[in-house]
Amino acid sequence: MGRLSVLFAAFGRSQPGTAPSHDNERRNKMKVVGFNGSPRKDGNTGILIHKVFHELEKEGIETELVQLSHKNIHGCIACYKCMENKDQRCAVNDDAANEYIEKMSQAQGVVLGSPVYFMDVTPEMKALIDRVGFVSRSNGGMFRDKVGSLVAAARRAGSVHTVDTMSHFFLSMEMIIVGRAIGMGRDEGDVEKDKEGLMLVNSLGQRMAWLLKMLYR
Ligand SMILES: Cc1cc2nc3c(=O)[nH]c(=O)nc-3n(C[C@H](O)[C@H](O)[C@H](O)COP(=O)(O)O)c2cc1C
Repeated sequence: MGRLSVLFAAFGRSQPGTAPSHDNERRNKMKVVGFNGSPRKDGNTGILIHKVFHELEKEGIETELVQLSHKNIHGCIACYKCMENKDQRCAVNDDAANEYIEKMSQAQGVVLGSPVYFMDVTPEMKALIDRVGFVSRSNGGMFRDKVGSLVAAARRAGSVHTVDTMSHFFLSMEMIIVGRAIGMGRDEGDVEKDKEGLMLVNSLGQRMAWLLKMLYR
């Protein structure tokens, strides 16, 4: 029994890697899924997520990036059917929400990234949070103990509020938050010139890799 298994057993909890949503076969095969809330696929948010991924991949952790703007995802319609069905799916099956729920379920780590739009996340990111979050809550917490990181790209103001919005999703999901990184710039690629932002995002990726290895290897 590893160090962490002993610790979790002592507190009467299952280790994250052995929680119902992760089976033992997947142990040691770590995966992080990132969601880019920007309509600009290769824009600043995408660049920041890729920098986190670069650090993860150096440590042998698999990554997958989902561009939220590529497939439609709309907001929750408050039908509350997920609370009745309890089948780990959204009852509204007309967009990519269930695909994203599955991707999140299969990963050990999640990166949420959004540009700042009027001091907050984009509508696509908010739709993801509401749809995925409600299904998880209706099913007893599907993402509990997964590891989460946040990135935001801003021209000038509102990045802290934007990161807050996404961090509340992680907190609500009872996930373990590694941290956040903010990159500054307006035009696509501008974040590459933000030296402090780059330092923060590299450090975020390294710390996420470290935590995942502590928990799952
Ligand atoms: C509709 C819209 C609203 C925006 N609102 C803000 C804002 O409130 N604060 C800010 O600093 N930048 C704002 N921006 C600028 C973007 O956050 C910035 O250009 C960011 O780098 C874009 O990231 P992306 O390339 O990943 O899309 C806004 C941009 C758009 C298109």
